[in-house]
Amino acid sequence: MNILVLFLILTVTSYKIVTKPGSNTYSFKGNFYWKIGRSTQFKQNKLNRILFDDLPLCIYRDKMDRLVAISDICIHRGASLSRGKLLPNNCLQCPYHGWEYNKGIVDNIPGCPDTKRNFGAPSFLIEERFGDVFLCPTYDKLSTQGIKPQCDIFTPPEAVDSTYTKISGNKRINRPFNLVTENVLDIMHISYVHSFGNSLSPVPFEVKYEDVGNFSGKTTFYYTAGPTSMSSIIGKVQYVKVENEFYLPDTTVTRVFAGNMIKTIVTNCYPIGKNESIFHYDLYRNFLTQPIFDSIFYAQMEITLREDIEILNGIYDNYIKGFMNTKFDQTQLKYREKWNKYFINENKYLIQKNNTNTKQ
Ligand code: FES
Ligand SMILES: [Fe+2]
Repeated sequence: MNILVLFLILTVTSYKIVTKPGSNTYSFKGNFYWKIGRSTQFKQNKLNRILFDDLPLCIYRDKMDRLVAISDICIHRGASLSRGKLLPNNCLQCPYHGWEYNKGIVDNIPGCPDTKRNFGAPSFLIEERFGDVFLCPTYDKLSTQGIKPQCDIFTPPEAVDSTYTKISGNKRINRPFNLVTENVLDIMHISYVHSFGNSLSPVPFEVKYEDVGNFSGKTTFYYTAGPTSMSSIIGKVQYVKVENEFYLPDTTVTRVFAGNMIKTIVTNCYPIGKNESIFHYDLYRNFLTQPIFDSIFYAQMEITLREDIEILNGIYDNYIKGFMNTKFDQTQLKYREKWNKYFINENKYLIQKNNTNTKQ
């Protein structure tokens, strides 16, 4: 073999980075970008530990203010890296034996000056958009192993429209993330679960579903405004139009039109464990936009969430999917259908891998 080619092969091979744990421990945890929080939550000089579907991650800002998301498990003896510290050289130092990680790669091991810098902890894709932070927990940038995100990050039009005012909040809910998301896509529960709903006229009408894209769908419907609802009291309207959308994997948009008043609630929910989720909401409004009115909307969201959580807590774990459906359940069913199509689980991943291997 030509010496030059041999040299090239050796150089390329020596640049291959090995990370631990291996890619199969994080390949099946949601091959999408997920909203995990707001930019302001991640402060300089603070190491944040988060769990994504039981996968522990350490998220921090480096000295240049860029977000880094690496596995929280030190590859030496498994210490939690988020208990360490960020050194002036921009490396994260493990609290147990002082190994230094540069964005996941082991840069220095105390007392071992010949560290090769070709191994470390997986480093995941993390992005900031309009003050929110999104993570793809299935693809490791260092070893280039795992599954890349299936689609782009969704930004609601209200986020870039200055006629809207926004309030935001979050809640930890001890239920699976998809149950929480499907509940927001459930148009029939409004009048039965919520105090703002109309129990006298609970059935939505003119219900129409349409696909928005491969990863999203939208249902438009109308209902008679409840006598105690904001639409009735402030908007003075009899009917309310609602657009209820989903964007895989974790986003719902509910846009309520009462005359010229528009209130849009965007939710994102991600799993921290099998039966635990973090739910984020942003509420946009084009009316009562002065900050003095914020407290009304915070209070309204608190009540709404309390009512939702109370009903979700009583749903039987093994029967979440249910046995029967009506035409009002179509948004949820479409969400499930697209999720099943695009979510890559362990079986699909192995089939894909085998197919690629046989093609080579
Ligand atoms: S466990 Fe991290 S350096 Fe030993
Ligand atoms: Fe609800």
